[in-house]
Amino acid sequence: MSLKWIKPTRDFEDVSPVYVKSFSGKGVKTASLRLSSMGVYEAELNGVRISDYVLAPGWTTKRLQYQTYDISSLLKEENTLCISVGRGWYRSPIATWREGEVQAQTLLPPGLAVELSLDGKFIEEWQVKEGCVRFSELYDGELYDANFTNCPLEAVESYPGPGLPLIPQQGELIKEHERLQPTAIITTPKGETVIDFGQNLTGYIELSLPENTKAKNKVTISFAETLDKHGNFYKENYRAAKSMLNYVCRDGSQIYKPKHTFFGFRYIRLDEFPLEACASYFTAIAVYSDIKRTGYFECSHPLINQLYENVIWGQKGNFLDVPTDCPQRDERLGWTGDAQAFVKAAAYNFDVEQFFTKWLADLALDQTKEGKVHHVIPDVLDDAGGSAAWGDAATICPWEIYLAYGDSTILERQFESMCKWISFISTTTKDEYLWTGGTHFGDWLALDAYDFENGGTEGRTRKDFLASAFYAHSTSLVIEAGKVLGKDVSEYEALYKSIVQKFKATFNTYTTQTEHVLALHFNLIGGKDAEVAESLADLIVADGTCLQTGFVGTPYLMHVLSDYGYLDLAYSLLLRTEYPSWLYPVTKGATTIWERWDSIKPNGDFQTVGMNSFNHYAYGAVADWLYSVVAGINPIGPGYRKIRIAPSPNTRLEWASAKLETRQGLVCSKWQVLEGRIRYDIEVPIQAEIVIDGETYYVEKGTHVFYGELPNS
Ligand code: BGC
Repeated sequence: MSLKWIKPTRDFEDVSPVYVKSFSGKGVKTASLRLSSMGVYEAELNGVRISDYVLAPGWTTKRLQYQTYDISSLLKEENTLCISVGRGWYRSPIATWREGEVQAQTLLPPGLAVELSLDGKFIEEWQVKEGCVRFSELYDGELYDANFTNCPLEAVESYPGPGLPLIPQQGELIKEHERLQPTAIITTPKGETVIDFGQNLTGYIELSLPENTKAKNKVTISFAETLDKHGNFYKENYRAAKSMLNYVCRDGSQIYKPKHTFFGFRYIRLDEFPLEACASYFTAIAVYSDIKRTGYFECSHPLINQLYENVIWGQKGNFLDVPTDCPQRDERLGWTGDAQAFVKAAAYNFDVEQFFTKWLADLALDQTKEGKVHHVIPDVLDDAGGSAAWGDAATICPWEIYLAYGDSTILERQFESMCKWISFISTTTKDEYLWTGGTHFGDWLALDAYDFENGGTEGRTRKDFLASAFYAHSTSLVIEAGKVLGKDVSEYEALYKSIVQKFKATFNTYTTQTEHVLALHFNLIGGKDAEVAESLADLIVADGTCLQTGFVGTPYLMHVLSDYGYLDLAYSLLLRTEYPSWLYPVTKGATTIWERWDSIKPNGDFQTVGMNSFNHYAYGAVADWLYSVVAGINPIGPGYRKIRIAPSPNTRLEWASAKLETRQGLVCSKWQVLEGRIRYDIEVPIQAEIVIDGETYYVEKGTHVFYGELPNS
């Protein structure tokens, strides 16, 4: 391999350089191109894109992916290869809310690592010119001047590059997926022209302008996820992210879509537009990693179906190379806590083994030598990390990926990182066998947070309680993983025993819903579980049959209720439509999962602009309960090599059905209320256990019908 770094000989500032190579293709049989860049690149041969990979080379940490393209079939007699490099993740200002931060990466050169080979011979001597992309940043958008065509070619120079190892593409390619047409063109009360695409998504828009467009006509577009209660365009929750598209037209009909940026949006506002707005000029394009859909859920309740669709769109919108918190404001970061909360649901919805393999490799590379896991991966927050339930992504994510897909390679790769995380906790805690002290986010955005209504973020669950519970849980996962890998885990078994003992002695009262949930779900009670479960149920009822949990408690809440005999109460939480609940945002027209239970309040006001995204997947974790409890599809052990179907019907639904493409084949589970009984239709690709009304049946591969009793509700 002979990838070489080149860069312009002068500062191109905001302009995206276009690297150019013209060459003869006469008699050439094979042509291949390897690329990576400091920023994001788009490559064209003779005006045709060489790949449908967008935002290449993706986002990694301490290493850079390169891609290899066979471009033989695109060759002509005379060829021109043009590669535009935008700021992307590597050179855009990132996490700009960090006060006083010098965004050193914005000063780095827009380097290109390139290797062009014709019939095995390396072709060098590139040139560079200014491109039509006059500005591109992740948060602020793009300025494209379609008239900017005749720019002189300049020399390039070699340089050592950013000093990051180059690795072959590891994650899925990022690609364009759904194309959505406008559902409405609105004139808002303020007189703004706003286009609604009917779906909150991540990607960009394609402009398709007609024949009568004139050179130098300007298009200026703003992006937003929602309208305010008066019907006006609302983008204050993007914080400092300008999220604008500026386009300078040329003469005649033309098509443009951004090259080097993306937006989180449902609505666009035409701030400047040379023509009468017409729906056919605009298409929204969803952009995300090319992960394969594996799971489907549907039931008789339209609002639950919409909730489920919102979870799917939330995953699409936040699985753009890295599992991000949100795609719109000045974050779009790989927050570990959000990823661990959602990973199980994510692995039902889509095949995310490769996606997490890449991200977890970055997590391990970013981990400090003491084992601290950073809050965001890639770490751009200057070494900040070490929070309970966030850093535990190091143990929870590999374990969930192993359970879903059954390949222990992920555990082999991550085992050292998992152990280092435990060692970090053990060496930084104030009290041996608990996790006390440190800086934690707590039960983030729980409803019991102090001053929640006005933007309070940290729930009342005691941080030492929460952190110690995760210390136990992560240690138990290291033991499980170590056993799979045939390691000696006696040291961790002893540690686990001591943590559990001390936890039980220290925390034997439970003050919040999340404290109950964590103690029960992580088996930290011993003896009086039923009492604690009852106390949780009582608390939920006393709270108005409402959840109060945040990012940490919510993913386990429904599981705990159904595991401990409170299935009907769990259904009550699921079916609740008033605030606070999962369905409340659906009644407010949500098409993705909101960051907060009250991102829009019942009176139509917004939560604080400081922290209010409409596309945050964490609370979408409830989807894993829909698959695994409502439809009852579960692996016994890793990778569905053994399958257990234990549906949990409730007569407040008429039917529910899920399908899951596992590594063993398709699993389907449907139940419906039929003539005073429940009919179950179950399909399994291998022998399986089916549990109906508490009785276990062992069945062969194939389709099976059972009838059961109506549950008491
Ligand atoms: C992010 C969250 C994240 C949190 C950490 C926020 O700004 O959007 O999703 O987990 O910070 O507390």
